[in-house]
Amino acid sequence: MPQNPQIHLVSRPNGEPTADNFKLVTLDTPALQDKQVLVRHAFLSLDPYMRGRMNDTKSYTVPQPLNSVMIGGTVGEVVESRHPKFAAGDKVVGMGGWQTYSVVDADTPGMLRKVDTTHVPISHFLGAVGMPGVTAWHGLVRIIEAKAGQTLTVSAASGAVGSAFGALAKARGCRVVGIAGHFENVGGMVLDAVMLRMNHFGSIAVCGMIAGYNGEPIPLANPSLILVNRMKVQGFIVSEHPDDWPLALQELGALVGSGKFRPRETVAPGLASAPEAFFGLLKGKNFGKQVVQI
Ligand SMILES: NC(=O)c1ccc[n+]([C@@H]2O[C@H](COP(=O)([O-])OP(=O)(O)OC[C@H]3O[C@@H](n4cnc5c(N)ncnc54)[C@H](OP(=O)(O)O)[C@@H]3O)[C@@H](O)[C@H]2O)c1
Repeated sequence: MPQNPQIHLVSRPNGEPTADNFKLVTLDTPALQDKQVLVRHAFLSLDPYMRGRMNDTKSYTVPQPLNSVMIGGTVGEVVESRHPKFAAGDKVVGMGGWQTYSVVDADTPGMLRKVDTTHVPISHFLGAVGMPGVTAWHGLVRIIEAKAGQTLTVSAASGAVGSAFGALAKARGCRVVGIAGHFENVGGMVLDAVMLRMNHFGSIAVCGMIAGYNGEPIPLANPSLILVNRMKVQGFIVSEHPDDWPLALQELGALVGSGKFRPRETVAPGLASAPEAFFGLLKGKNFGKQVVQI
């Protein structure tokens, strides 16, 4: 079995994460047990939610344990399989983590899914045709309930979620205003600006608060506008809506496969570059989906 370079979380950040929080180690890959699959990762996804997992605080999910492989979405190819539904050469998406190979219990729900890369490049299954794309779809379709002719605004518009939101909204005949390149040292500025321009009975899908992920406060200047404008403000976590995924992925796959949506990516070279690329993501340095080529 191959040697497996991997990145562990070894300490928790206080504010901005640093290189000291991570450690690159190389371990042997264990022999496959029955129903297991060995996957060689081609790309690792870097996502804002990873910053929250590095904390040991109350959240919507459990923290990343110390001294273990950092969590993360991956795409790659099956190298060896002891599961009847997977064969060597299959292209797959999963949660393999910050490492070169993963041994996956393929019967565990949500762990490994085959993908068709005929019309969609494999890395897009981590972005536009993956979790961030489904996030955009859920906010647009389920929370905002967008209709043709409406005007919508999305912040972090050049990012993975924001760009998918724009493409999906445009396909529905909406007018979309994207806000990008608006780095906030103290969060809240963009939301405040948008709130002042909302129509009566407008809706806000609260998808993320990236400017606050290192612990900075996110004050809201005019919360009374929620009442005055009779707004609907709703947060959501995409993993809590498994029923939406097939429908959303089908629509996103068709948009990307047909060339109507050409997602941009920032590709960091090699596993060792993952921490630095992740720090850049938290400062808005990436354009489009941030992935690491393994
Ligand atoms: N609710 C859910 O289930 C769910 C799922 C996925 C993602 N999200 C959230 O959605 C948001 C976007 O995620 P993504 O996957 O699209 O990430 P992404 O591709 O890395 O895009 C993030 C974008 O955020 C902007 N940004 C970064 N740091 C910032 C700061 N300090 N202040 C203001 N803007 C900053 C940058 O855009 P510009 O510099 O171009 O403005 C950056 O390109 C994040 O808040 C994430 O946590 C939520």
